[in-house]
Amino acid sequence: MTEQQYAISKYPDTVEVYARLKNLVDQPIRPVRRERMQEYLNYYETKCARSKALNDEAQKLIPGGVQHNLAFNYPFPIAIEKADGAYLWDADGNRYIDFLQAGGPTVLGSNYAPVRDRVIEMLQTCGPVTGLFHEYELKLAQLIHRFMPSVEMFRMLGSGTESVMAAIRAARAFTKKKKIIKVGGAYHGWSDSMVFGLHLPGTGRLEAKGIPIGATANTQEFFPNSLGALKAKLIFNLLLGGTAAVIVEPVGPESGTRPVPYDFNRKVRELCDEFGALLIFDEVVTGFRLGLGGAQGYFGVKPDLTVFGKCVTGGYPMAGGVGGRADVILRFAAGIGGTGERAYIGGTLSANPLSCVAGYYALLEMERTNAPVLAGKAGDRLTLGLKAIIDKHGLPFVVFNQGSIVHLETSGVMLLDLHNPLKLARELKPRKHMLEEMGAAYMANGLITLAGSRMYTSMADTDAVIDEALEKFEGVLSSVEGL
Ligand SMILES: Cc1ncc(COP(=O)(O)O)c(C=O)c1O
Repeated sequence: MTEQQYAISKYPDTVEVYARLKNLVDQPIRPVRRERMQEYLNYYETKCARSKALNDEAQKLIPGGVQHNLAFNYPFPIAIEKADGAYLWDADGNRYIDFLQAGGPTVLGSNYAPVRDRVIEMLQTCGPVTGLFHEYELKLAQLIHRFMPSVEMFRMLGSGTESVMAAIRAARAFTKKKKIIKVGGAYHGWSDSMVFGLHLPGTGRLEAKGIPIGATANTQEFFPNSLGALKAKLIFNLLLGGTAAVIVEPVGPESGTRPVPYDFNRKVRELCDEFGALLIFDEVVTGFRLGLGGAQGYFGVKPDLTVFGKCVTGGYPMAGGVGGRADVILRFAAGIGGTGERAYIGGTLSANPLSCVAGYYALLEMERTNAPVLAGKAGDRLTLGLKAIIDKHGLPFVVFNQGSIVHLETSGVMLLDLHNPLKLARELKPRKHMLEEMGAAYMANGLITLAGSRMYTSMADTDAVIDEALEKFEGVLSSVEGL
């Protein structure tokens, strides 16, 4: 038997997942019982004094007291002091099992020593940046090309957001068309043109404060999984000069919170070919987490362009890049080798030696250890365990995973959309608050999740770690109303 290469051992039955999600959203919310929630909130007051004091100070200088969208604000953000493998420790010395994993990049686990050692070596010889070419830029590009043959050429950048911007610019420069179609609810960073249909499908410019209408004038969204709607947009755009690219998160919007049917990407590829649009895979999350071949390897679909972030530097700073067809990527050529129709991109710290050495050794270590598959097995064990808890208590909650990306929907807020605007207006706030409470309840029990509804597992999540986590989840999930 050949060794499993990808993190997903069995693709979720999306018809069943959507039926369960619909059932969840059709029901009233089931938050943690009030007296128990008070106990959980007391944890923060009594056990997190230093975090609280730091946050009180931070509020004076940092807007909202916290700089990161994924950090918990409720009841107040916890200050983290130490990270190692599957665990984090806060400034008061409390230990947590870390299912945030920095939002995805650390498939090897946090602060993985063999990569850290290489980074320190680089810092001691070259420092973090010179602004000139370093051999590790080439080594990283070669490695990515080996893992993902669709990446004929690669240009490294500073973040996923920048890399999406670059991919869109290249697609427009190459096709000479303007329209970009995304999936409603998908996240492609915070650039002007992509803060559109964010989080909740159909919401268009709802979150586009500070962004002029012109900046999103050529961005369009279609409802998740609706190939008919995509085709209609592609046809309509023929009258508007055509579609430059369709951009997708290949497991579905918000890292697969709304999972795609298995053959969705293949069908999007066919539509792109039919209408002369480029297909951009945003593999910021899936790139290397699903396996070294990424989602494109897993689904067997070849995009024209791939956007990288997170894992591309193994959790070290300046994580971004865009790769793909040489004839398209050549639009970025700096200096010699350009096509004469250059799409301008840049970045003082892009492709610095620190980021490149970190990415190179992180990916090599992931290959040597088979980390994506091990992380996927941990995700499977967590999902199965959570499902058993949910079923045992007869709860309407929904758990499913795409390997090491685990979704635990308890409030269903992410499943609201503009198909039903009245329900959205009525339920958005209470469902969002329940999610915050669930996140706070998990954390008070020593579990850090992504926004209370997603978990990234890593190679460091041994069976013992997952079993410990499941015990803690059982405590919270068995304390919801109605039990
Ligand atoms: C799918 C996807 N694309 C793009 C981004 C933006 O990447 P960055 O935060 O590095 O700008 C993210 C970040 O979470 C993401 O999940």
